[in-house]
Amino acid sequence: MAPIQWQYKPFAPSEDDEENIDIGSYTPKSRTTRFKKLVFVFIAVCTTLYLSVRGTQALVRFLSKPCHSTHHWHSKVNHTLGGGLPTHFTLPSGDKIPSVALGTAGRGEVGLAVKTALEVGYTHVDGAWAYRNEDEVGKAWKASGIPRDQIWLTSKLWNFFHAPEDVEAALDESLSNLGTEYLDLYLIHWPIAFKKGTDNVVDLELTANPYPTWKKLEEMVDKGKVRNIGISNFNIARVKNLTANPLKYKPAVNQVELNFFNPQPELLNWAKENDLLLEAYSPLGSTRQVQESLNQPIVQEIAKTLAITPAQVIISWHVQRGTVVLPKSVTPSRVEENLQVTALPQDLFEKLEAAAVSHPPARVVNPSKGWGLDFDIFDDEWPL
Ligand SMILES: NC(=O)c1ccc[n+]([C@@H]2O[C@H](COP(=O)([O-])OP(=O)(O)OC[C@H]3O[C@@H](n4cnc5c(N)ncnc54)[C@H](OP(=O)(O)O)[C@@H]3O)[C@@H](O)[C@H]2O)c1
Repeated sequence: MAPIQWQYKPFAPSEDDEENIDIGSYTPKSRTTRFKKLVFVFIAVCTTLYLSVRGTQALVRFLSKPCHSTHHWHSKVNHTLGGGLPTHFTLPSGDKIPSVALGTAGRGEVGLAVKTALEVGYTHVDGAWAYRNEDEVGKAWKASGIPRDQIWLTSKLWNFFHAPEDVEAALDESLSNLGTEYLDLYLIHWPIAFKKGTDNVVDLELTANPYPTWKKLEEMVDKGKVRNIGISNFNIARVKNLTANPLKYKPAVNQVELNFFNPQPELLNWAKENDLLLEAYSPLGSTRQVQESLNQPIVQEIAKTLAITPAQVIISWHVQRGTVVLPKSVTPSRVEENLQVTALPQDLFEKLEAAAVSHPPARVVNPSKGWGLDFDIFDDEWPL
């Protein structure tokens, strides 16, 4: 086939063009300028039309789509996340878990939060059966059009379903609510097993030895219903108690409370030494303490120095400590704000770390009393 011949035809100058004032100045350079102007006007008109029809968020999504098919849907993640911090951590399975997730526990319209999060570049949503909103999360994800392999979905097994014969049905319910065939990560929500159908009566045997529950979770991995399994709210003693068994798959993560008031440096160091990734829940101190966290003088000072927000200082600090972080917000502007992490200069990072570990630790989440337990879930001496 003969190659296509392009013939350059200059645009005819119109009467009101500035270039038309003096035809003598109509040089190839001014032709280029006129062409650029036309292209600019064309793009401006198209953008205005697109925005009026689809809205600003759709444009943001359109622009953040990759040009190349081998890229992930959210090329934006690489621009918004990072700033020298890891965008992902690698699990024992080889899967890469995104370092910042949207938390979905608590009050508020979670569907809108998930919608916003996916639009601005989150690829990780932390959920649980107990949050009673997995269907809302699933609907928001489905509406986003994001392919399944480009979003990380975590759910958690509630205390009533630790008996091996109950695990699969509980998992199936979460899968069905979310509208997915598999989870990226499934956690034992608490190291406490309740007897099903009771008013929080503890199954002492299964609580003291969660291995039967774990074996069932391993089976779920082999069945392809879950890609990674992990634990939540396990202290070091409880992790050791579980991992003393001949596990087929070791826990991929331990999701625990980590924030300015409860930074748990010993657990963090131990987890690193033992190749167990921590996920920081209530990273801002939860609704109860978020303002107090953000108003800490050191947090304010770093925020001013780096011209970022106090929440961004804290969320960045978590990732820099080497943990996945799960800030929750149902406020669209905050959802977006919380994804913009950046590496803190080493001296400022150390100052914040020193301030966080300098006071006696105080947990914000401890349901031991609320559940009527006669022991503390986080007691190092129990259940060994
Ligand atoms: N495994 C477990 O047992 C466990 C326990 C607790 C939590 N979690 C997980 O961790 C997630 C986060 O924990 P959390 O919800 O307790 O606490 P959090 O993320 O530390 O704090 C949430 C509070 O901070 C506010 N907030 C968020 N971003 C903000 C910002 N940029 N500026 C000012 N305020 C901001 C939120 O308000 P608005 O929403 O009004 O914006 C909300 O009141 C949960 O959603 C859940 O996924 C797991």
